Order: sequence, then structure tokens, then C-alpha cells
Amino acid sequence: EKGGYDHFMLKEIYEQPSAIEDTYRGRMLVKEGIIKMSGIDDHLERFLNANRIIIVACGTSWHAGLVAEYIFEDLARIPVEVEYASEFRYRNPVIGKGDVLIAISQSGETADTMAAIKLAKENGAFVFGVCNVVGSSISRITDAGAYTHAGPEIGVASTKAFTTQITLLTLIALKLGKEKGSISKSDFYLYLQEMDLIPSKIEKALEANKHIIEVANHYKNSRNCLYLGRGYNFPVALEGALKLKEISYIHAEGYPAAEMKHGPIALIDEEMPVVVIATRKGHYEKVVSNVQEIKSRKGKIIAIVTEGDEQVSKVADHVIEVPDTFEALTPLLTTIPLQLLSYHIAVMLGKNVDQPRNLAKSVTVE
Ligand code: M6R
Repeated sequence: EKGGYDHFMLKEIYEQPSAIEDTYRGRMLVKEGIIKMSGIDDHLERFLNANRIIIVACGTSWHAGLVAEYIFEDLARIPVEVEYASEFRYRNPVIGKGDVLIAISQSGETADTMAAIKLAKENGAFVFGVCNVVGSSISRITDAGAYTHAGPEIGVASTKAFTTQITLLTLIALKLGKEKGSISKSDFYLYLQEMDLIPSKIEKALEANKHIIEVANHYKNSRNCLYLGRGYNFPVALEGALKLKEISYIHAEGYPAAEMKHGPIALIDEEMPVVVIATRKGHYEKVVSNVQEIKSRKGKIIAIVTEGDEQVSKVADHVIEVPDTFEALTPLLTTIPLQLLSYHIAVMLGKNVDQPRNLAKSVTVE
């Protein structure tokens, strides 16, 4: 059942190329140059006329929501707010007719996300669900939705659910962007073509596995770890840190790279590994200077870079390459090495990777 892999988590990491294909198959028609999604097509006006989109979710799904915020604002020019479902439901939010709420949930059973949906509906908002589990509670109580089609995710640590959520939300943003004219037709086609290359680029990113095992071996005894990223890769930093803490029990924090100098830089010394996402697209020069700041304080740098990178590679202690892609699609690639890194560290520490202590696959209580 684990398909020859030692753990479900590893199997699910390796399933990402095909899972992502399953997400866009039949929806993204590259030759025709269209995106077909009945859940959006049937309610197009709601989305196009939305005052704003509010995304609610928990954990990893919340991180996918943060990536979506960048993509929606960038491509579709619709204002987006991303909220923890648990906070949204208890803070008397200003929401009503004309707002669209997108709820993201792998399991479709998360109690806080369900409660947020109910609250939004009571206030007249239109609710769209992004779920993986077909027929789940959330998919039944939403006004419309789309499934990620990632297949069953058994490992408690979410992996393929995350990248397929991002894929699906990117398709929605592209579709809305095209309808609104906020993205040109030619750029839209280029995005479809590039999205179609993502599965093979993930295959490529997975080839770093052996090298990542060596990196994991170096840092497995660390007490803390910092993850930094900017722009589209800031949520990836948060996700990398969550993955590490949840399965290896090493304390980890994700930060927007530029926030470092507002506090966390005080933590940096030779004992502190810092994982920096420094792909060539998107604030590259700024991240390079953040990397230098860490280096001058003797921090240990593990950099996720674009293939062929020279600048960061000169300074970093370890470099993990991912293929080049459009900036908006980089999270789909940069996430991969971070998943593998936490997986290998947890295995080396002898932790129960698929069922970490104190955690359940779906959190059906608040
Ligand atoms: O099923 P959901 O997507 O609603 O679950 C949300 C979180 O409980 C979940 O992502 C959790 O954070 C994972 N264990 C993270 O790997």
C-alpha cells in the first residue's frame, strides 16, 4: 500500500508530479488555450464582481491560501484576505453579500473551517470550497467548489494536498485574470504552457533527494531552524517550518526574509541553520543581501536556488537546486526540497513520520 516507499509521506511527496497533473487534467486545455472549471464557470459573475475574496483555512491549507493571495492579486487583481479559520469564526468579521469566501481543506472535515463557512453563509457571502476528499462535509456545505483530485493523503504531514491546492487556485486566478483582462491573452497562454511543464520540473527537483539526505544528516541534531522567503516564497518558508516541527519536533520558524532584522536576527549564531528560498525570480538581489547578513553572523545557510545559480551558491553552506519557472509558480518547486529535508531529518531521528505525536489527520474538534 506504500508502493515500495518506507512511509506514506515519502510516497505522497513522490506522487506530486502525477497528482498535479490530475488536478489540471480536463480543466486546463493547453492547445485550446482555455481553463474549464464548472464550479467557476457556473458562478463567474460572483467572482468577477466580488468586492474581495476571503480565504479561510488551517495549517498547511492556510499556507496554500497565502500563496493564492499573491497569485489572485497579481493575476486577477482582486483584493484577497487570508484568515485562520479559527480566528475568523470568533472575531465578528465584516463580511456579506458581494464577498466570496474560499475555504481550503484537504480533508473537508476541519471543524474551524466548517464553522467559518457557516458564519460566512449566514452573512450572505458566496462560499467556494477547495477540498481533496470527495463528498466530505465541507464539499457538501459550500455553494460551489472544485476538488484537488490529489488522491488519498494518508501521512499526517500534508504534502501533495498543498501543491495541488496551489495548482487549483492558480487555475482559478488565471481564469479570472483572463476574464477580467488583467492578464493578457498571450501571458495566459504562456502560463498554461508553463503549468504543463511543472510535473516534469518537480521530477527534476526530486532528483536532489540524495543530496538532501546529506544536508539532513548535517542538521538533524539542531535545536532550532529558521526558514526565510519573500513574496511568493514567504508562505513556502512558513510551510517548510511547519513540516519540520510537526514531524521532527525540532523548533522551526518561518519568516519573511526582510523581517529578520526586526527581531529574529538576534537568534543567529553558528548553531542556527537558516533555510533560505532564493530563486532567481522575485526579490533575488534582496534575498542575496539577507543571506549575506546571516553569513556575517556565522549562521549556517541552506539555500534553495534556481538551477545554475552562482551568487547565493558562493555564500551558502549548502545549495539545493530547483528548475527555473515563472515567479508565480515557484512555490510548486521550492516546496519539494523542504518536504524532503524534513522527512529525512525525522526519519534519521527515528520519529513516527506518518503519525506524529499529538496530531490527527483531520482536526474535527476545535
Ligand atoms: O484537512 P485540512 O486541510 O483542513 O487540514 C488543515 C490542517 O489541519 C493541516 O494542514 C495540518 O496543518 C497538517 N498536519 C500540516 O501538515
